[in-house]
Amino acid sequence: MTESVNVKNIGLRGVTVADTKVSFIDGKKGVLIYRGYRIEDLAQNASFPEVAFLLLHGVPPDNMQLADFNEQLLEASEIPAYVYDALKHYPADARPMDVLQAGIPLLAMADPELSDDTREANIRKGIRLIARLPMLVAAWHRIRQGLPPLPAESSLSHTDNFLYQLHGIKPSDKATQVLDTCLVLHADHTFNASTFSCRQVVSTRAHIYAGVTAGIGALSGSLHGGANAQVMKMLLSLQDEKDVAAWVSKQLDKGERIMGMGHAVYKTMDPRATFLKEMALSLGKESGQRQLVSLSRQIEEAALIEFKKRGKTEIKPNVDFYSASVYHLLGIPTDLMTPIFAISRVAGWAAHIIEEKTGEAQEKPALYRPKAEYIGQYCGLMGCEFKPLEKHSSKE
Ligand code: COA
Repeated sequence: MTESVNVKNIGLRGVTVADTKVSFIDGKKGVLIYRGYRIEDLAQNASFPEVAFLLLHGVPPDNMQLADFNEQLLEASEIPAYVYDALKHYPADARPMDVLQAGIPLLAMADPELSDDTREANIRKGIRLIARLPMLVAAWHRIRQGLPPLPAESSLSHTDNFLYQLHGIKPSDKATQVLDTCLVLHADHTFNASTFSCRQVVSTRAHIYAGVTAGIGALSGSLHGGANAQVMKMLLSLQDEKDVAAWVSKQLDKGERIMGMGHAVYKTMDPRATFLKEMALSLGKESGQRQLVSLSRQIEEAALIEFKKRGKTEIKPNVDFYSASVYHLLGIPTDLMTPIFAISRVAGWAAHIIEEKTGEAQEKPALYRPKAEYIGQYCGLMGCEFKPLEKHSSKE
Protein backbone atom coordinates (compact mmCIF):
# COMPACT_ATOMS: atom_id res chain seq x y z
CA MET A 1 0.00 0.00 0.00
CA THR A 2 1.44 3.38 -1.02
CA GLU A 3 1.82 6.04 1.66
CA SER A 4 -0.71 8.86 1.38
CA VAL A 5 1.05 12.25 1.13
CA ASN A 6 -0.62 15.61 1.05
CA VAL A 7 0.99 17.59 -1.79
CA LYS A 8 -0.52 20.07 -4.17
CA ASN A 9 0.88 20.27 -7.68
CA ILE A 10 -1.43 21.79 -10.24
CA GLY A 11 -1.50 19.63 -13.37
CA LEU A 12 0.64 16.90 -11.73
CA ARG A 13 3.80 18.36 -13.33
CA GLY A 14 6.84 16.44 -12.13
CA VAL A 15 4.78 14.22 -9.83
CA THR A 16 5.68 10.53 -10.08
CA VAL A 17 2.44 8.54 -9.91
CA ALA A 18 3.70 5.08 -10.91
CA ASP A 19 6.68 3.00 -11.96
CA THR A 20 6.84 1.82 -15.55
CA LYS A 21 9.04 -0.48 -17.61
CA VAL A 22 7.60 0.67 -20.93
CA SER A 23 9.45 3.89 -21.77
CA PHE A 24 11.68 6.64 -20.38
CA ILE A 25 12.31 10.31 -21.19
CA ASP A 26 15.16 12.56 -20.11
CA GLY A 27 13.62 15.94 -20.88
CA LYS A 28 16.82 17.93 -20.25
CA LYS A 29 19.01 15.79 -22.48
CA GLY A 30 16.33 15.08 -25.10
CA VAL A 31 16.44 11.29 -24.72
CA LEU A 32 13.54 8.91 -25.41
CA ILE A 33 13.84 5.19 -24.73
CA TYR A 34 11.32 2.37 -25.38
CA ARG A 35 11.98 -0.74 -23.25
CA GLY A 36 15.69 0.13 -23.00
CA TYR A 37 16.23 1.07 -26.69
CA ARG A 38 16.91 4.64 -27.88
CA ILE A 39 14.38 6.12 -30.27
CA GLU A 40 17.14 7.04 -32.77
CA ASP A 41 18.18 3.37 -32.94
CA LEU A 42 14.61 2.14 -33.35
CA ALA A 43 13.72 4.80 -35.93
CA GLN A 44 16.66 3.72 -38.10
CA ASN A 45 16.58 -0.01 -37.57
CA ALA A 46 13.11 -1.21 -36.59
CA SER A 47 9.76 -1.42 -38.34
CA PHE A 48 6.53 -0.38 -36.60
CA PRO A 49 5.39 -4.01 -36.05
CA GLU A 50 8.78 -4.76 -34.43
CA VAL A 51 8.33 -1.78 -32.13
CA ALA A 52 4.73 -2.76 -31.33
CA PHE A 53 5.94 -6.27 -30.43
CA LEU A 54 8.72 -4.76 -28.29
CA LEU A 55 6.28 -2.54 -26.43
CA LEU A 56 3.75 -5.32 -25.86
CA HIS A 57 6.17 -8.11 -24.95
CA GLY A 58 9.07 -6.14 -23.44
CA VAL A 59 11.68 -7.68 -25.76
CA PRO A 60 12.27 -7.33 -29.52
CA PRO A 61 11.02 -10.18 -31.74
CA ASP A 62 13.28 -12.63 -33.57
CA ASN A 63 12.58 -13.30 -37.27
CA MET A 64 10.05 -16.06 -36.59
CA GLN A 65 8.24 -14.05 -33.93
CA LEU A 66 8.08 -11.02 -36.22
CA ALA A 67 6.67 -13.08 -39.11
CA ASP A 68 4.09 -14.54 -36.73
CA PHE A 69 3.24 -11.08 -35.32
CA ASN A 70 2.73 -9.67 -38.83
CA GLU A 71 0.47 -12.63 -39.59
CA GLN A 72 -1.53 -11.95 -36.42
CA LEU A 73 -1.89 -8.26 -37.37
CA LEU A 74 -3.17 -9.19 -40.81
CA GLU A 75 -5.63 -11.78 -39.49
CA ALA A 76 -6.88 -9.41 -36.80
CA SER A 77 -7.41 -6.54 -39.22
CA GLU A 78 -10.87 -7.62 -40.41
CA ILE A 79 -13.53 -5.35 -38.98
CA PRO A 80 -17.07 -6.69 -38.29
CA ALA A 81 -19.58 -5.65 -40.97
CA TYR A 82 -21.83 -3.88 -38.44
CA VAL A 83 -19.02 -1.41 -37.75
CA TYR A 84 -18.91 -0.42 -41.43
CA ASP A 85 -22.71 -0.18 -41.41
CA ALA A 86 -22.54 2.18 -38.42
CA LEU A 87 -19.94 4.38 -40.16
CA LYS A 88 -22.25 4.71 -43.17
CA HIS A 89 -24.82 6.44 -40.94
CA TYR A 90 -22.44 9.06 -39.54
CA PRO A 91 -22.57 12.62 -40.92
CA ALA A 92 -19.99 12.93 -43.73
CA ASP A 93 -18.36 15.88 -41.97
CA ALA A 94 -17.90 13.99 -38.67
CA ARG A 95 -14.42 14.52 -37.29
CA PRO A 96 -12.23 11.46 -37.87
CA MET A 97 -11.04 11.49 -34.23
CA ASP A 98 -14.68 11.34 -33.09
CA VAL A 99 -15.39 8.53 -35.53
CA LEU A 100 -12.32 6.67 -34.30
CA GLN A 101 -13.24 7.16 -30.66
CA ALA A 102 -16.83 6.05 -31.31
CA GLY A 103 -15.56 2.99 -33.17
CA ILE A 104 -13.64 1.49 -30.26
CA PRO A 105 -16.66 0.34 -28.19
CA LEU A 106 -18.10 -1.08 -31.43
CA LEU A 107 -14.96 -3.20 -31.78
CA ALA A 108 -15.20 -4.19 -28.09
CA MET A 109 -18.66 -5.67 -28.70
CA ALA A 110 -17.20 -8.14 -31.21
CA ASP A 111 -14.25 -9.24 -29.08
CA PRO A 112 -14.73 -12.83 -27.90
CA GLU A 113 -12.20 -12.29 -25.10
CA LEU A 114 -13.66 -9.06 -23.72
CA SER A 115 -14.17 -10.51 -20.23
CA ASP A 116 -10.84 -12.32 -20.09
CA ASP A 117 -8.51 -10.00 -18.17
CA THR A 118 -5.40 -12.19 -18.25
CA ARG A 119 -2.14 -10.75 -19.56
CA GLU A 120 -2.19 -13.09 -22.58
CA ALA A 121 -5.76 -12.18 -23.55
CA ASN A 122 -4.98 -8.48 -23.18
CA ILE A 123 -1.96 -8.84 -25.46
CA ARG A 124 -4.21 -10.47 -28.07
CA LYS A 125 -6.74 -7.64 -27.65
CA GLY A 126 -3.88 -5.14 -27.96
CA ILE A 127 -2.88 -6.75 -31.26
CA ARG A 128 -6.49 -6.54 -32.50
CA LEU A 129 -6.58 -2.85 -31.64
CA ILE A 130 -3.24 -2.15 -33.36
CA ALA A 131 -4.54 -4.01 -36.44
CA ARG A 132 -8.02 -2.43 -36.52
CA LEU A 133 -7.44 1.24 -35.73
CA PRO A 134 -5.81 1.92 -39.13
CA MET A 135 -8.64 -0.02 -40.83
CA LEU A 136 -11.21 2.20 -39.08
CA VAL A 137 -9.43 5.42 -40.06
CA ALA A 138 -9.02 4.35 -43.69
CA ALA A 139 -12.58 2.98 -43.89
CA TRP A 140 -14.01 6.26 -42.61
CA HIS A 141 -11.98 8.23 -45.14
CA ARG A 142 -13.38 6.13 -47.96
CA ILE A 143 -16.95 6.01 -46.66
CA ARG A 144 -17.10 9.79 -46.26
CA GLN A 145 -16.15 10.09 -49.94
CA GLY A 146 -18.89 7.63 -50.91
CA LEU A 147 -16.35 4.86 -51.62
CA PRO A 148 -16.44 1.30 -50.27
CA PRO A 149 -13.76 0.39 -47.68
CA LEU A 150 -10.96 -1.83 -48.98
CA PRO A 151 -10.01 -5.10 -47.27
CA ALA A 152 -6.39 -5.64 -46.16
CA GLU A 153 -4.15 -7.19 -48.85
CA SER A 154 -2.24 -10.22 -47.60
CA SER A 155 0.82 -9.35 -49.72
CA LEU A 156 1.22 -5.94 -48.07
CA SER A 157 2.83 -4.94 -44.77
CA HIS A 158 0.86 -3.31 -41.95
CA THR A 159 1.95 0.20 -43.02
CA ASP A 160 1.60 -0.50 -46.77
CA ASN A 161 -1.92 -1.70 -46.13
CA PHE A 162 -2.92 1.49 -44.34
CA LEU A 163 -1.70 3.71 -47.20
CA TYR A 164 -3.29 1.39 -49.76
CA GLN A 165 -6.66 1.41 -48.00
CA LEU A 166 -6.53 5.17 -47.62
CA HIS A 167 -5.58 6.11 -51.18
CA GLY A 168 -6.77 3.01 -53.07
CA ILE A 169 -3.37 2.55 -54.76
CA LYS A 170 -0.28 0.66 -53.65
CA PRO A 171 2.13 3.13 -52.02
CA SER A 172 5.72 3.72 -53.11
CA ASP A 173 8.50 2.13 -51.02
CA LYS A 174 9.56 5.61 -49.93
CA ALA A 175 6.06 6.53 -48.71
CA THR A 176 5.77 3.30 -46.71
CA GLN A 177 9.23 3.70 -45.21
CA VAL A 178 8.54 7.31 -44.19
CA LEU A 179 5.15 6.54 -42.64
CA ASP A 180 6.52 3.45 -40.89
CA THR A 181 9.26 5.57 -39.28
CA CYS A 182 6.60 8.10 -38.20
CA LEU A 183 4.67 5.27 -36.55
CA VAL A 184 7.84 4.12 -34.74
CA LEU A 185 8.47 7.68 -33.50
CA HIS A 186 4.94 8.15 -32.16
CA ALA A 187 4.43 4.72 -30.57
CA ASP A 188 5.01 5.61 -26.93
CA HIS A 189 5.91 8.52 -24.66
CA THR A 190 5.61 7.52 -20.98
CA PHE A 191 2.84 9.18 -18.94
CA ASN A 192 1.58 11.74 -21.48
CA ALA A 193 -2.05 12.86 -21.14
CA SER A 194 -3.57 10.13 -23.32
CA THR A 195 -1.54 7.28 -21.82
CA PHE A 196 -2.33 8.46 -18.33
CA SER A 197 -6.01 8.58 -19.31
CA CYS A 198 -5.84 4.97 -20.52
CA ARG A 199 -4.10 3.81 -17.35
CA GLN A 200 -6.40 5.76 -15.09
CA VAL A 201 -9.50 4.26 -16.74
CA VAL A 202 -8.28 0.65 -16.59
CA SER A 203 -7.18 1.11 -12.98
CA THR A 204 -10.93 0.78 -12.27
CA ARG A 205 -10.74 -2.71 -13.92
CA ALA A 206 -12.46 -1.39 -17.02
CA HIS A 207 -11.46 -3.29 -20.18
CA ILE A 208 -8.69 -2.32 -22.62
CA TYR A 209 -11.21 -0.89 -25.12
CA ALA A 210 -12.56 1.52 -22.47
CA GLY A 211 -8.98 2.62 -21.77
CA VAL A 212 -8.17 3.17 -25.46
CA THR A 213 -11.43 5.09 -25.97
CA ALA A 214 -10.34 7.50 -23.23
CA GLY A 215 -6.85 7.72 -24.73
CA ILE A 216 -8.26 8.75 -28.12
CA GLY A 217 -10.37 11.46 -26.47
CA ALA A 218 -7.32 12.87 -24.67
CA LEU A 219 -5.16 12.68 -27.79
CA SER A 220 -7.65 14.65 -29.86
CA GLY A 221 -7.00 17.92 -27.99
CA SER A 222 -4.86 20.58 -29.65
CA LEU A 223 -2.35 20.71 -26.78
CA HIS A 224 -1.70 16.99 -27.30
CA GLY A 225 -2.00 14.94 -30.54
CA GLY A 226 -4.37 17.46 -32.12
CA ALA A 227 -1.41 19.85 -32.45
CA ASN A 228 -0.22 18.29 -35.74
CA ALA A 229 -3.45 19.29 -37.53
CA GLN A 230 -3.20 22.78 -35.99
CA VAL A 231 0.36 23.09 -37.31
CA MET A 232 -0.89 22.16 -40.78
CA LYS A 233 -3.65 24.78 -40.57
CA MET A 234 -1.05 27.36 -39.50
CA LEU A 235 1.19 26.46 -42.46
CA LEU A 236 -1.68 26.66 -44.94
CA SER A 237 -2.80 30.02 -43.56
CA LEU A 238 0.73 31.43 -43.81
CA GLN A 239 1.50 30.34 -47.37
CA ASP A 240 1.15 33.89 -48.70
CA GLU A 241 2.58 35.61 -45.62
CA LYS A 242 5.40 37.97 -46.61
CA ASP A 243 6.80 38.57 -43.11
CA VAL A 244 6.73 35.36 -41.10
CA ALA A 245 8.91 36.80 -38.33
CA ALA A 246 6.47 39.68 -37.77
CA TRP A 247 3.55 37.22 -37.69
CA VAL A 248 5.28 35.07 -35.05
CA SER A 249 6.09 38.10 -32.91
CA LYS A 250 2.50 39.36 -33.16
CA GLN A 251 1.12 35.94 -32.19
CA LEU A 252 3.25 35.86 -29.07
CA ASP A 253 2.36 39.46 -28.21
CA LYS A 254 -1.30 38.40 -28.34
CA GLY A 255 -0.54 35.52 -25.94
CA GLU A 256 -1.18 32.92 -28.67
CA ARG A 257 0.80 29.68 -28.86
CA ILE A 258 2.89 28.56 -31.82
CA MET A 259 1.52 25.09 -32.40
CA GLY A 260 4.01 22.24 -32.58
CA MET A 261 6.42 24.03 -30.26
CA GLY A 262 7.08 23.55 -26.57
CA HIS A 263 6.76 20.46 -24.45
CA ALA A 264 5.75 19.62 -20.90
CA VAL A 265 8.81 17.37 -20.46
CA TYR A 266 11.44 18.26 -23.09
CA LYS A 267 13.36 21.39 -22.27
CA THR A 268 15.58 20.85 -25.32
CA MET A 269 14.93 19.57 -28.86
CA ASP A 270 12.45 16.69 -28.93
CA PRO A 271 14.51 13.81 -30.44
CA ARG A 272 11.52 12.80 -32.59
CA ALA A 273 11.36 16.30 -34.09
CA THR A 274 14.99 16.00 -35.23
CA PHE A 275 14.04 12.93 -37.28
CA LEU A 276 10.83 14.40 -38.60
CA LYS A 277 12.60 17.57 -39.72
CA GLU A 278 15.09 15.51 -41.75
CA MET A 279 12.25 13.45 -43.20
CA ALA A 280 10.28 16.56 -44.16
CA LEU A 281 13.35 18.10 -45.81
CA SER A 282 14.08 14.92 -47.75
CA LEU A 283 10.45 14.44 -48.87
CA GLY A 284 10.19 18.11 -49.86
CA LYS A 285 13.37 17.83 -51.93
CA GLU A 286 12.37 14.58 -53.64
CA SER A 287 8.84 15.71 -54.45
CA GLY A 288 9.94 19.16 -55.57
CA GLN A 289 7.53 20.62 -52.97
CA ARG A 290 9.93 22.52 -50.78
CA GLN A 291 7.65 25.46 -50.00
CA LEU A 292 5.92 23.98 -46.96
CA VAL A 293 9.11 22.73 -45.33
CA SER A 294 10.85 26.00 -46.04
CA LEU A 295 7.92 27.85 -44.42
CA SER A 296 8.15 25.54 -41.39
CA ARG A 297 11.84 26.36 -41.05
CA GLN A 298 11.12 30.08 -41.28
CA ILE A 299 8.52 29.79 -38.52
CA GLU A 300 10.87 27.68 -36.38
CA GLU A 301 13.75 30.15 -36.80
CA ALA A 302 11.57 33.18 -36.11
CA ALA A 303 9.97 31.51 -33.07
CA LEU A 304 13.33 30.50 -31.58
CA ILE A 305 14.53 34.12 -31.87
CA GLU A 306 11.31 35.46 -30.31
CA PHE A 307 11.32 32.88 -27.49
CA LYS A 308 14.95 33.78 -26.73
CA LYS A 309 14.05 37.48 -26.56
CA ARG A 310 11.28 36.55 -24.12
CA GLY A 311 13.55 34.38 -21.93
CA LYS A 312 11.86 31.11 -23.01
CA THR A 313 14.79 29.31 -24.59
CA GLU A 314 13.42 25.87 -23.69
CA ILE A 315 10.56 26.11 -26.21
CA LYS A 316 11.62 24.12 -29.28
CA PRO A 317 9.81 22.16 -32.02
CA ASN A 318 8.06 19.04 -30.75
CA VAL A 319 6.94 15.87 -32.55
CA ASP A 320 3.99 17.64 -34.16
CA PHE A 321 5.84 20.51 -35.83
CA TYR A 322 7.43 18.68 -38.76
CA SER A 323 5.13 15.65 -38.78
CA ALA A 324 2.44 17.92 -40.27
CA SER A 325 4.61 18.62 -43.36
CA VAL A 326 5.61 14.96 -43.61
CA TYR A 327 2.01 13.76 -43.59
CA HIS A 328 0.93 16.49 -46.02
CA LEU A 329 3.67 15.48 -48.43
CA LEU A 330 2.44 11.88 -48.15
CA GLY A 331 -0.99 13.07 -49.30
CA ILE A 332 -2.63 12.68 -45.88
CA PRO A 333 -5.60 15.07 -45.37
CA THR A 334 -5.16 17.44 -42.42
CA ASP A 335 -7.98 15.94 -40.36
CA LEU A 336 -6.40 12.46 -40.58
CA MET A 337 -3.09 13.63 -39.06
CA THR A 338 -4.16 13.12 -35.44
CA PRO A 339 -5.80 9.74 -36.21
CA ILE A 340 -2.43 8.65 -37.65
CA PHE A 341 -0.84 9.58 -34.31
CA ALA A 342 -3.49 7.33 -32.70
CA ILE A 343 -2.84 4.31 -34.96
CA SER A 344 0.73 4.38 -33.73
CA ARG A 345 0.23 5.38 -30.08
CA VAL A 346 -2.28 2.54 -29.60
CA ALA A 347 0.75 0.22 -29.32
CA GLY A 348 2.04 2.21 -26.33
CA TRP A 349 -1.43 2.54 -24.83
CA ALA A 350 -1.90 -1.23 -25.00
CA ALA A 351 1.50 -1.86 -23.36
CA HIS A 352 0.73 0.62 -20.57
CA ILE A 353 -2.77 -0.76 -20.04
CA ILE A 354 -1.38 -4.28 -19.70
CA GLU A 355 1.27 -3.02 -17.27
CA GLU A 356 -1.41 -1.21 -15.27
CA LYS A 357 -3.68 -4.27 -15.16
CA THR A 358 -1.01 -6.80 -14.28
CA GLY A 359 0.85 -4.56 -11.82
CA GLU A 360 4.05 -5.95 -13.36
CA ALA A 361 6.02 -2.75 -12.79
CA GLN A 362 4.99 -2.27 -9.18
CA GLU A 363 2.42 -2.95 -6.54
CA LYS A 364 0.12 0.02 -6.16
CA PRO A 365 -3.31 0.80 -4.81
CA ALA A 366 -5.99 -0.54 -7.12
CA LEU A 367 -7.27 2.83 -8.25
CA TYR A 368 -5.80 6.23 -9.16
CA ARG A 369 -7.50 8.69 -6.86
CA PRO A 370 -5.95 12.16 -6.56
CA LYS A 371 -7.57 14.89 -4.49
CA ALA A 372 -8.68 18.42 -5.27
CA GLU A 373 -8.77 21.34 -2.90
CA TYR A 374 -12.37 22.56 -2.53
CA ILE A 375 -12.62 26.33 -2.98
CA GLY A 376 -16.36 26.55 -3.72
CA GLN A 377 -19.30 27.73 -1.56
CA TYR A 378 -18.89 26.54 2.04
CA CYS A 379 -21.25 27.04 4.99
CA GLY A 380 -19.53 24.72 7.46
CA LEU A 381 -19.90 20.94 7.78
CA MET A 382 -23.70 21.18 8.26
CA GLY A 383 -23.88 22.49 4.67
CA CYS A 384 -25.77 25.52 3.31
CA GLU A 385 -29.56 25.40 3.50
CA PHE A 386 -31.00 24.14 0.22
CA LYS A 387 -34.35 25.73 -0.61
CA PRO A 388 -36.51 23.40 -2.76
CA LEU A 389 -37.82 25.28 -5.80
CA GLU A 390 -41.54 24.92 -4.99
CA LYS A 391 -41.19 26.16 -1.40
CA HIS A 392 -39.04 29.00 -2.69
CA SER A 393 -41.59 30.14 -5.34
CA SER A 394 -44.67 29.73 -3.04
CA LYS A 395 -43.12 32.21 -0.62
CA GLU A 396 -42.84 34.84 -3.33
N1 COA B 1 3.92 29.02 -28.04
C1 COA B 1 3.96 30.13 -27.26
N2 COA B 1 4.15 30.09 -25.94
C2 COA B 1 4.35 28.89 -25.39
C3 COA B 1 4.33 27.71 -26.13
C4 COA B 1 4.10 27.81 -27.51
N3 COA B 1 4.06 26.74 -28.29
N4 COA B 1 4.54 26.65 -25.30
C5 COA B 1 4.65 27.16 -24.07
N5 COA B 1 4.55 28.51 -24.11
C6 COA B 1 4.62 29.46 -23.01
C7 COA B 1 3.28 29.58 -22.32
O1 COA B 1 2.48 30.56 -22.91
C8 COA B 1 3.69 29.93 -20.91
O2 COA B 1 4.02 31.29 -20.88
P1 COA B 1 3.75 32.18 -19.54
O3 COA B 1 4.59 31.53 -18.47
O4 COA B 1 4.21 33.53 -19.94
O5 COA B 1 2.29 32.06 -19.27
C9 COA B 1 4.97 29.13 -20.72
O6 COA B 1 5.52 28.95 -22.04
C10 COA B 1 4.75 27.79 -20.09
O7 COA B 1 3.68 27.14 -20.75
P2 COA B 1 2.85 25.96 -20.08
O8 COA B 1 1.73 25.54 -20.95
O9 COA B 1 2.49 26.33 -18.70
O10 COA B 1 3.96 24.89 -19.92
P3 COA B 1 4.39 23.65 -20.69
O11 COA B 1 5.82 23.75 -20.96
O12 COA B 1 3.98 22.53 -19.86
O13 COA B 1 3.58 23.57 -22.07
C11 COA B 1 2.56 22.59 -23.92
C12 COA B 1 3.54 22.41 -22.80
C13 COA B 1 2.72 21.42 -24.90
C14 COA B 1 1.14 22.58 -23.38
C15 COA B 1 2.87 23.92 -24.65
O14 COA B 1 4.22 23.96 -25.02
C16 COA B 1 1.98 24.18 -25.83
O15 COA B 1 0.84 24.61 -25.68
N6 COA B 1 2.49 23.91 -27.09
C17 COA B 1 1.68 24.09 -28.27
C18 COA B 1 0.78 22.89 -28.49
C19 COA B 1 1.56 21.68 -28.91
O16 COA B 1 2.38 21.72 -29.80
N7 COA B 1 1.25 20.55 -28.28
C20 COA B 1 1.85 19.28 -28.58
C21 COA B 1 2.77 18.84 -27.49
S1 COA B 1 3.67 17.38 -27.96
